[in-house]
Amino acid sequence: MSKPSVLSGIQPTADSFHIGNWFGALRQWVQMQDSHECFYSVVDLHAITAEFDPIILRKRTLASFAQLLAVGIDPSKSTVFVQSQVPQHAQLAWVLSCITGFGEASRMTQFKDKSQKGGQERSSVGLFTYPVLQAADILLYQAQSVPVGEDQRQHLELTRDLAARFNSQFGKTFVVPEPFIVKQSAKILDLQDPAAKMSKSSPQGCIFLLDEPAVVLKKFKTALTDSGKEIKYDPANKPGISNLLSIIHAITGEEISAIESQFVNKGYGDLKVYTGELVVDKVINPFREKTLSLLGDESKLNELMNQGAIKAEKVAAKTLEDVYIKVGFKN
Ligand code: TYM
Repeated sequence: MSKPSVLSGIQPTADSFHIGNWFGALRQWVQMQDSHECFYSVVDLHAITAEFDPIILRKRTLASFAQLLAVGIDPSKSTVFVQSQVPQHAQLAWVLSCITGFGEASRMTQFKDKSQKGGQERSSVGLFTYPVLQAADILLYQAQSVPVGEDQRQHLELTRDLAARFNSQFGKTFVVPEPFIVKQSAKILDLQDPAAKMSKSSPQGCIFLLDEPAVVLKKFKTALTDSGKEIKYDPANKPGISNLLSIIHAITGEEISAIESQFVNKGYGDLKVYTGELVVDKVINPFREKTLSLLGDESKLNELMNQGAIKAEKVAAKTLEDVYIKVGFKN
């Protein structure tokens, strides 16, 4: 029997991935490689939906590809590729956009949030149709499972609706995918503002995987914590402390209650230092070293990128051919 398929993507919109990406998604990507047929993409088409600089984008795409390898994505097991190098993504996105309701797309909260920040007038149509392109990414590879963080749940719902709609209008074509979201680490919070998810747009509250270890320790030391003194997992009343406990749990796999009991009679400061050191030791140090060494051989990275695109295109072309026949573009 063939293995179930997986697809997921990450945007090349920062110089470095962060620990939210790692715990929320990338760790699962790595773990699924043996049990699944995996397709992982650096989604550069998505990265131009907001303001961008072509030279920086190119650099970040390469750096993102290197970082995927550094976290443990193995090109001999998984297909790792850059989205713009596989033309079927944009082609399928167009067809899907023609079965997407305007109202349906308007309800996407990520679009609402992002367009509010920049103003509706200045937001691109690409930002509006962003989730349709994401659906195309997933459906081209007939992915059963999509490992992502909590913030992608609504986009996955739209993908499922579009797959089911296309299937019912034109006949069975797509697998209807399931999101794969690991509850405990689905939303790592900003260290300076535990009401918000960790994101590159708030660099002081964000631990980048390529941050210098001293910077990481400092960001943890100055993390905003909650009122009270007790170290207890209570996301509603102690979001900052709970976030640190979730990070420890994600690294060590220990039960939260066991972690709490190690900190009886200890203070918030102890927890912050402990978490920072653990992250540096288990995540940052091994990752930085690998990424920096991979980035030293650009031609090897480009070669792997080309090979990934060729592998991805074989699968994507088959699905697109089926879609083109179903909608009447082809016999
Ligand atoms: P992106 O590039 O913003 O993030 C990549 C992955 O990291 C997860 N993530 C988090 N998880 C937990 N806590 C956080 N603070 C945190 N921040 C980010 C995201 O949920 C995501 O899984 N739209 C997608 C990219 C995309 C995609 C796809 C994903 C394009 N096509 C197809 C899956 C399938 C995005 O912007 O992710």
